[in-house]
Order: sequence, then structure tokens, then C-alpha cells
Amino acid sequence: MNGPNLNLLGTREPAHYGHETLDDIVAQVRDTASTHDIGISAFQSNSEAELIERVHTCSSDGTDGLIVNPAAFTHTSIALRDALAAVGKPFVEVHLSNVYAREPFRHHSYFSDLAIGVISGLGSYGYLAALTALARQLGEAA
Ligand code: DQA
Repeated sequence: MNGPNLNLLGTREPAHYGHETLDDIVAQVRDTASTHDIGISAFQSNSEAELIERVHTCSSDGTDGLIVNPAAFTHTSIALRDALAAVGKPFVEVHLSNVYAREPFRHHSYFSDLAIGVISGLGSYGYLAALTALARQLGEAA
């Protein structure tokens, strides 16, 4: 699940976010997922409300876990945090850029203490690492 402005990946501030598009990243995640026999549902929105609604559907749509890049909502959204807490599915928080090497307002996340782990600064590889970690965690829990 990807938050605001991540639909612009490919052209958006490539020094921070690289040249790959969101479709490129989702395709890589799907490839990795298929090797683990995992199904993927990808969702991006610029709307906090739509992201919250999508998290709510995870209660009943068979979702086992999430990879979440809340984008700027990382630093602002108690409401999206509360949605993830309410649904209670394990999730990995991912950031393409190293938020700790950037402006101080990016150093705080409303999600990190709820996440099973946080990956920041590894570019698109962070999503693949998150998927592998989530698969391992879900496998251990099964
Ligand atoms: C981001 C980092 C956030 O601070 C920023 O607002 C984003 C993207 C990242 O992937 O590096 O939109 O989550």
C-alpha cells in the first residue's frame, strides 16, 4: 500500500526516489511474491480517507499482512495509524529514501512502533526485502 505522490515515481525527485515507476516496483514485488506463492494486491492513493478505507477491507478480504509506504502520511497521520492498529495485520513500513538522512520532520513516524520492521533508504529493494521478511514471519506464525 502506497501513499500520496508515490504515483509520480519515475519523475518525482529522482535523487531521492530513483527512476523506477510504481508499476515497475509492483511488478518486481509480484515476481518475488510468485516465488513464495503469495498473492499481491497493490493499492496507491493520494487520499488519506481512501487509504484508511483500504486498510479496513483487510479485515475481511483474506489479507495476511501488508507492506506500507505511507509517504508523507508517515509523519502526520494518526488516523491511518489507528486504522492499521484496529485491523491488527502485521505490516512492514517501507521508505524508498533514508528518511533519517533528510529533514528533521521526516525523522518521526506514526507507524514504526506498530510495524514488525522498518526499511528506509534501500530504494525499491526495500519492498522486496519487506516481502521476504513478511513471508518468513507469516510462515513462522502458521
Ligand atoms: C517516503 C519518505 C517520506 O518522507 C515522503 O513524504 C514520501 C516518500 C519514501 O518512500 O522515502 O513521500 O515515504
